[in-house]
Amino acid sequence: MTVKTVTTATIKEMKQKGEPITMITAYDVAMARNVNEAGVDMILVGDSLGNVVLGYNSTVPVTMEEMLHHTKAVMRGNSRALVVGDMPFMSYQASIVDGMYNAARFLKETGCTAVKLEGGSEVCPLVEKLTAAGIPVVGHLGLTPQSVNQLGGFKVQGKDIAAAQKIIDDAKALEAAGAFAIVLECVPAALAAKITGELKTAATIGIGAGSGCDGQVLVCNDLLGVTDGFCPKFVRKYADLHTTTVAAVKQYIADVKARTFPAAEHTFKIDDSVLEKLY
Ligand code: KIV
Repeated sequence: MTVKTVTTATIKEMKQKGEPITMITAYDVAMARNVNEAGVDMILVGDSLGNVVLGYNSTVPVTMEEMLHHTKAVMRGNSRALVVGDMPFMSYQASIVDGMYNAARFLKETGCTAVKLEGGSEVCPLVEKLTAAGIPVVGHLGLTPQSVNQLGGFKVQGKDIAAAQKIIDDAKALEAAGAFAIVLECVPAALAAKITGELKTAATIGIGAGSGCDGQVLVCNDLLGVTDGFCPKFVRKYADLHTTTVAAVKQYIADVKARTFPAAEHTFKIDDSVLEKLY
């Protein structure tokens, strides 16, 4: 069976048809294989890598080399999904040249299809250049974690008139600059639905932004319950891998201590005639 790969044209078509778009983060080959098998449309190699995999307190310390390393791993496990590499903090904010160079590294060195970057009108000149150069772009508005120090914490965005209007204006500006999709993070559901209705070509992908978006994204470790730490209000846990993992490893420890693992079926044989000749 041939697998039809998801392209930016597929995502645009899904928006036009009103078909919900699914996106999930992944950071390694095993997760990429699993989410492809499940049939997800888009994989985001998010800079949430920093918090989720590398143990940083925020996404701010994440480097280009770390992002490229994990995006390459995801690409080795990808078969159908459209993979988006997340541009880390300060890989594009200082200059257009930096942004062009680092975005190109994602496509050239990892083989992914698109890049994501945070910000509104201030990043539009870069988005225009990237799309003109053939690099598809996903925008990111609302709670933009790379600006957590400026925002004063991980809070819902766009609650007053000025802030809500700015998100609408930024979304329209990103669409006009060529972004084919825009992540809306932690914004009121009614605002996200209004933006989704007003954008003609760019698909909105919500996280903590309600069901009125064109698609949804979740961090894979949150959705799967990989740890028992803090979990944002907007997450639905579809599995409890933390409990499963701890129970499995406890059982392994008990089996090794009791010498019931490895059992005969886990061992390799040698002929007695060989064994007898050993001294
Ligand atoms: O880095 C990330 O995982 C993200 C998602 C939360 C959208 O940006």
